[in-house]
Amino acid sequence: MHRDKIKLDLLIHDLKGPIAVIEAGISSLLTRPEKYGSITDKQEKVLVRTLRNAKVLQALVNDALELGRSRAGVINVTCSKISDLIEQSLVEIFDLVDQGASERIKICNDLPRLRGELEERGIGLFIDEGLWLQEVFLDEAKIRQVLRNLLHNALKYRKNRLEITVDKQHDHLIFSVADDGEGIPEIYHKKVFESYFQLDVTNAHTVRGHGLGLAGVMVLVEDMGGELHLESEEGHGAKFSVTVPLKW
Ligand SMILES: Nc1ncnc2c1ncn2[C@@H]1O[C@H](COP(=O)(O)OP(=O)(O)OP(=O)(O)O)[C@@H](O)[C@H]1O
Ligand SMILES: [Mg+2]
Repeated sequence: MHRDKIKLDLLIHDLKGPIAVIEAGISSLLTRPEKYGSITDKQEKVLVRTLRNAKVLQALVNDALELGRSRAGVINVTCSKISDLIEQSLVEIFDLVDQGASERIKICNDLPRLRGELEERGIGLFIDEGLWLQEVFLDEAKIRQVLRNLLHNALKYRKNRLEITVDKQHDHLIFSVADDGEGIPEIYHKKVFESYFQLDVTNAHTVRGHGLGLAGVMVLVEDMGGELHLESEEGHGAKFSVTVPLKW
């Protein structure tokens, strides 16, 4: 499949998350007055209309994913703090799976507190305090897309735990996301990076996805001049490591 099409597919694919958050938020306002307070008839009409349109948008995104289109990709390098990259990716991912956690992560303003919040949710964060506060030149949006997809997979496929490790070696940033799930048999280590490939379509987790995340992640990492590696043994979890150059 053409690389640009894979990237566009990934962008459209990542729209699914925020739209799901919008839909869940409006549904909560409409159906849980005991928690969110009662609403007037006029407000209800607006919310119903908004909800209906969020659903239309969801359907359009699903259609676009089937259809796909092509567009040229651009690398946009900015100066970002590593702490912001990691924190924002975690907030974006928890917005989808656990809104309470995402609220709590947002208000942690130092590494030890964030580590504590994450540990409570079975997530280890391993990074040197100095590196945490460092500013680096990267394509921030692409790095966040990569992290979001790897984190989302690890949360989906882990048994109990996942670990995020960030390290710097020479002019490269290395981050890995490891989980303790079923892992990926060696014969599929190349296949999982192909679009629309999913290992076990009878599994409830897998059915909800599209098999597009990793294919998109691979293209993005390569576009940044980096590498993406998978280490996994069946039954012993999976570890995805990304290495990207910091000098442009
Ligand atoms: N951490 C992991 N542990 C075990 N299997 C994994 C893991 N990450 C990915 N896989 C396997 O690789 C397949 C492809 O992953 P990919 O992220 O491309 O798609 P998906 O998560 O199924 O759907 P999507 O990302 O489109 O929502 C998955 O369906 C799953 O079978
Ligand atoms: Mg995925």
